[in-house]
Amino acid sequence: MRTLKNLMVTGGAGFIGSNFIHYLLNGTDFNGRIINADKLTYAGNPDNLSDVEDKFGGSRYFFEKADIGDYGRIKNIFEKYDIDTVIHFAAESHVDRSIFGPKEFIETNIMGTFNLLEVARETWVGKEGTHFHHVSTDEVYGSLGETGFFFENTPYDPRSPYSASKASSDHLVLAYFHTYGLSVTLSNCSNNYGPYQFPEKLIPLMIMNMKEEKSLPVYGDGRYIRDWLYVDDHNSGVWAILNKGKTGETYNIGGENEWENIKLLNVLCEKMAALTGKDKEHYKKLITYVKDRPGHDRRYAINCDRIKMELGWKQTYDFDRGLDKTIKWYLENEKWIARLRSGEYKNWIEKNYEKRQ
Ligand code: NAD
Ligand code: TYD
Repeated sequence: MRTLKNLMVTGGAGFIGSNFIHYLLNGTDFNGRIINADKLTYAGNPDNLSDVEDKFGGSRYFFEKADIGDYGRIKNIFEKYDIDTVIHFAAESHVDRSIFGPKEFIETNIMGTFNLLEVARETWVGKEGTHFHHVSTDEVYGSLGETGFFFENTPYDPRSPYSASKASSDHLVLAYFHTYGLSVTLSNCSNNYGPYQFPEKLIPLMIMNMKEEKSLPVYGDGRYIRDWLYVDDHNSGVWAILNKGKTGETYNIGGENEWENIKLLNVLCEKMAALTGKDKEHYKKLITYVKDRPGHDRRYAINCDRIKMELGWKQTYDFDRGLDKTIKWYLENEKWIARLRSGEYKNWIEKNYEKRQ
């Protein structure tokens, strides 16, 4: 077991990072400090952690608005909080955005990760008990046909600017282990879903559109396959690797829960109808086939035997329970959605955080 005291969580105001911080404070026996370093891009939302800020702000939880690519800021945070552990979630994370504009993906995912690694390498020289965990995606392995799975030793074959930038960062993290002896672990995970996910990704986008009676855009023939995992199950995997994963190694995390997009969408329509008391066909009528995504990966499927066998991890949410919880969350959190849409939360950021710098 590693000793973890002062944890820097990068991208902690985003979807998975904010769920990770909630998980750490409510679902584990971690008793150290959490330092959330986040640039607050469009995807970073301090609302996701307002309860944490109220309860733990200034004692066990600290927010630092920072770009991971800013050497001076990151170095300063390492020194200010005596950081011994980094859990690196921060990234540009949406494939469609990477197709429209790859530059930020290169800057944050590659250069930003490089910068973090450099600061860690320099600051941690001669220091015991330090560790860097890099959170990555199964998309680095490319696209599968009808059969087969991604294993930890599957050759990398990224096909979108997003997955290429993540693949590059994975290689850099491993290079720092082999070359400089930095203590690192990596995880490559399948598609996550759950509360606080920015409504540009498939599941929250469809829930929001149904709520607003907008069309439900299905790319191409809708028969693309993704493996879905509830976000808390991803985070319990990250936590297990952080604590007891073998240094220098990669672990795949997956849901073992493959769905064609169109079938998943039909289930979402039925669940929404049941919750809102509408007819089953009501939401299905909104389904609209649209132009395909360029370079659209056909199928992702993860083999996660390694983390199960070596670290005793397993999924705890079946899809039915996870989806019910997620849909209810989006239906009940009107304020979160309204603020996100209105841009009001950006003013809130300025009021609450920027003046502290
Ligand atoms: P997200 O887009 O919801 O959040 C990203 C966070 O990073 C935001 O808070 C944003 O403000 C912050 N950020 C972006 N650029 C930054 C920078 N330069 N400096 C500091 N902070 C910055 O992403 P997510 O879905 O929570 O994904 C988190 C991580 O998990 C990413 O590394 C992603 O590649 C990986 N991942 C995501 C999924 C998924 O299904 N969402 C699956 C596997 C792996
Ligand atoms: P997405 O949530 O963007 O995740 P990723 O591309 O990283 O897997 O998309 C999941 C799947 O849903 C993918 O096959 C693309 C498809 N999709 C649609 O059909 N329509 C949409 O509006 C979106 C956002 C995605």
